[in-house]
Amino acid sequence: MHPLLGDDLARLPELLDETRAYAVRILQGLDDRPVAQLPVRREPTPLPAEGSGLKGAMEAFAERWEAGFAASAGPRYLGFVTGGSTPAALAGDWLTGALDQNPTSRVDSTAPDLEREAASWLRELFGLPAEHQGTFVSGATMSNLAGLAVGREWLGERHGISVAEQGAAALGPVTVLSGTPHSSVGKALSLLGLGRSAIRRVDTLPGREAVDVARLAEALEGLGGRPTIVVANAGTVNTVDFDDLRAIAALRERHPFWLHVDAAFGAFAALSPAHAHLVDGLGEADSVCVDLHKWLNVPYSGAVQFTRRRDLQARVFANSAAAYLGPVGDDPDPVHLTPENSRRLLAVPAWFTLAAYGREGHAEIVRRDIALAELLGERIAALPGYRLLAPVRLNVVCFTLAEAPERTGDLVTAITESGEAFLTPTVYDGVPALRAAFSNWRTTEADVERVAKLLERLAP
Ligand SMILES: Cc1ncc(COP(=O)(O)O)c(C=O)c1O
Repeated sequence: MHPLLGDDLARLPELLDETRAYAVRILQGLDDRPVAQLPVRREPTPLPAEGSGLKGAMEAFAERWEAGFAASAGPRYLGFVTGGSTPAALAGDWLTGALDQNPTSRVDSTAPDLEREAASWLRELFGLPAEHQGTFVSGATMSNLAGLAVGREWLGERHGISVAEQGAAALGPVTVLSGTPHSSVGKALSLLGLGRSAIRRVDTLPGREAVDVARLAEALEGLGGRPTIVVANAGTVNTVDFDDLRAIAALRERHPFWLHVDAAFGAFAALSPAHAHLVDGLGEADSVCVDLHKWLNVPYSGAVQFTRRRDLQARVFANSAAAYLGPVGDDPDPVHLTPENSRRLLAVPAWFTLAAYGREGHAEIVRRDIALAELLGERIAALPGYRLLAPVRLNVVCFTLAEAPERTGDLVTAITESGEAFLTPTVYDGVPALRAAFSNWRTTEADVERVAKLLERLAP
């Protein structure tokens, strides 16, 4: 063994204690760290020929990298839709690395069954019916990809072919209907060989991002019975609008389509009694995407993909040519269900946080974040110089500068430079805008007041 490795092994308990202490300093310093910084590009240094051991690496990391990292685990990082890590989720993540399981197949441990348990807990959390089975992937983009891949196989089934065997070309052109799809849907269609241009946008309701179901019905009618895919959206990124899932699902009585629902963060509306109606009908979907590193507050990365057609999922992802992995069978191992073969045991942080805080603990985070988004919405509506672009439907405030929306870019920069908060820019209905997204378990009313004061100070 290399002497540096041997030395680290001999001192492992002490070195891990130091790592733990370092992590604690980082977490306790979250409030003092600039929430975000304008990035300064760092060029790579040459590969160290002689290493410096774990302690040396930690010192180099602290000196060269850590200071430039964002406080994205903290309470005022309101960019994108970014969760933090609950204490239990973080502990679960550490132990995942310590145990270093590969849940590919059930040949050596019970690890895949932990994923099955965590997936069934998540299914319950979102109120999905028992026919939906969940599999872990690395993020909502992969979950959308996997769900749409199963949908593509379903299209093949309707045409009497297997796309998994014959390729996407055997299907001919495919239409994917959606009102306001997330950009990752285009990426998934590109990967699946269906092409980004397969997306046909359906009109949304006036002043909304939710699809107009009557127009969707017309579009389906226009396909003359050709099987298609509908991507319904449960929580759009700009205004967190929700398609009427039940009404869309009912259209399947007259038209053949695979219903995929992108509920990356919107699925969590099910945890708030006042908002659960927004995801009414989610269980009717054929496949559902839910991110976990957003509102479940597990560390990056993790998401879950639910479908009621596990048989088709296994047809797409089966790794059946390797004798050492065993047959696909009726209850396929994870290796036969997602794009990866070997991967991290992704479910552990989710399992830990659900075991630690249960449904109620997570419902409290969701309800609090919604209330905080509403509060910031009220503050912004009352501030001169700003204008809300949409009602706060769930956990995102979408707003702009009342007089000069084109200057929102400068405002985003000024917010970042302040180190007090981080918000991301967007364009909504042609208007440059900002989004403040609440999905962190640490955020409180005091944080909202700080953000409101900052916006007041920076108002033109
Ligand atoms: C609705 C929706 N779908 C998909 C995604 C993609 O998620 P990820 O970045 O985890 O792949 C996001 C991310 O913001 C999202 O909001």
